[in-house]
Amino acid sequence: MPDELILTRKDGPVGVLTLNRPEALNALAPRMLAAICDALETFDADEEIRVIVLAGTERVFAAGADIKAMAPASSTDMIRLDTLRYWQRMHQITKPLIAAVSGYAFGGGCELAMTCDLIVASETAQFAQSEIKVGIMPGAGGTQRLTKAIGPYRAMEMVLTGEPISAQAALAYGLVNRVVPEKRFLEEALELARLIASRPAVAVRLAREALRYGVETTLRDGLMVERRNFYLTFDTEDQAEGMNAFIEKRAPEFKGR
Ligand code: CAA
Repeated sequence: MPDELILTRKDGPVGVLTLNRPEALNALAPRMLAAICDALETFDADEEIRVIVLAGTERVFAAGADIKAMAPASSTDMIRLDTLRYWQRMHQITKPLIAAVSGYAFGGGCELAMTCDLIVASETAQFAQSEIKVGIMPGAGGTQRLTKAIGPYRAMEMVLTGEPISAQAALAYGLVNRVVPEKRFLEEALELARLIASRPAVAVRLAREALRYGVETTLRDGLMVERRNFYLTFDTEDQAEGMNAFIEKRAPEFKGR
């Protein structure tokens, strides 16, 4: 494995994390998952960063968990290793995450994309919950998030057959936000990230929180969180700036406070 399993850089207010294990199609070995979590948490704590883009290369986003590392494992080994704890860490990130997906997003790769809030796909992206083909099943959210994203019948077919769907099918199913030319997949994700980064950061955070909470809970609880967060936005400087700018017919200058 190369030393740098992931690469990170800052692009203004956008933190960019690139998966960097090309010889294994970015297979998500435990060390790689740990590096992803560390980098995401560093960006999350960085006040300059507003949005995070998680990208692969044109050929591959990620071909899933590392099959070679898992092949000899027993249930006890898997419980002791507990790589799924990394996925819980990813779920705790508070800033918007955008997956920039080209090529294969298979197994844990599809689950990694679905851990993000938005997915920008290249025309060559393929999504699959392919675990069934190697004798296991999805373990990092594939049976749950996929069902919520595309509905139970389509999710059932993907999980039980393990067959991939194209970027266009993913768009039709509502699994991705947009499909763009392969050469532009990262730039399009960055443009979307910059747009969200230009919006008032506290309102972005509160709205994202309400949306994510709503997926996991009842309508009644979701509406309660939405109402609470809506009222909270009125304590921000950006609320005053946004509304005054509208009334004064000028562009707002948000400060993220
Ligand atoms: N784990 C470990 N190594 C992998 C890998 C994986 N998931 N996917 C690919 N690789 C390795 C291959 O073994 C190969 O290495 P060698 O050159 O040393 O043989 C290298 O990456 C290139 O792969 P291929 O030669 O297979 O490339 P391809 O273009 O012919 O096929 C592919 C690409 C269709 C994605 C194919 O590699 C594939 O099917 N990969 C496995 C996909 C999969 O089943 N993922 C689910 C994993 S389980 C999981 O993710 C559990 C979970 O939910 C957390």
